[in-house]
Amino acid sequence: MITCSAPGKVYLFGEHAVVYGESAICCAVELRTKVHVEKSDDIIIESTLGTTGIDHAIHPYVSYAIEKMQPLADIKGIRIVIESELPVGSGLGSSAAVTVATIKALDLLFECKLSLEDIAEMAHEVERMVQGNASPTDTYVSTMGGVVMIPQRKRLPLIECPIVIGNTNRFSSTKELVGNVAKLRNEFPDIIEPILSDIGQMSLLAEELVHEKDYGTIGRLMNVNQGLLDAIGVGSAELSDLVYAARNNGAISSKITGAGGGGCMIALAEDDTASSIAKAIEDAGGEAIITRNTKEGVRLETLNGQ
Ligand code: MEV
Repeated sequence: MITCSAPGKVYLFGEHAVVYGESAICCAVELRTKVHVEKSDDIIIESTLGTTGIDHAIHPYVSYAIEKMQPLADIKGIRIVIESELPVGSGLGSSAAVTVATIKALDLLFECKLSLEDIAEMAHEVERMVQGNASPTDTYVSTMGGVVMIPQRKRLPLIECPIVIGNTNRFSSTKELVGNVAKLRNEFPDIIEPILSDIGQMSLLAEELVHEKDYGTIGRLMNVNQGLLDAIGVGSAELSDLVYAARNNGAISSKITGAGGGGCMIALAEDDTASSIAKAIEDAGGEAIITRNTKEGVRLETLNGQ
């Protein structure tokens, strides 16, 4: 049996704007999806959603990933077991992580010798098959790890402070939210395009600040980014409650991460404020996770159980 894992991600800046070619800064976080694979008589996929064969309704990402690998590998029967620390549909890149980890595990099991670039690209194609208009951000960051500026694919230094994630536990559909922003942009191009462009400008400004470890200024800009996400309609009362609970309890900054609507927000914290921010998020009705960014993307965890 081979086990591979891939990380989830958070956006410091740039979700939604990145769909229109603007810059974003994203970081992989130490919350992972593990995929175990072994050869078997039939194709079997097991997760908390159930046990299926190829099933595009219940296990769309894993099913399309297997089909994507079939021209390269003689996959007659395999058993795939998915275990995830990432909540599904919450903006933390759970679908990218499961797709990337599945492709890597199949690559190793069938000795296809794919490069990381190949894996990121194939995983992006799988996401597009399932979601339609998905940017390559989630799959790229989950494959490569680290802090990455998109679309330039520039690697930036790691952020040296704890990141507190607040989950509203409300499912959010990336496809629907990206569609809503597209509608708003079509209706009011002169208003919405400058907002998306401002978000992109913030990512460009923040690049140097990440190098300088100027988390105070990064935080002020992240708070502006939050205001602009609200302006394009991807906020919600629950997300705002968590964003302000974090800010009122010592967060350097707080904003939505990912598609919005429901899903998660993040707060940058100091080592000694992370737990009080997490408590404030929980008191405001969210589920809090304290994490950090990670330089490691997809990786082999164990080979033959070792
Ligand atoms: C979703 O995690 C991020 C969005 O920018 C969509 C995408 O980049 O595909 C909203």
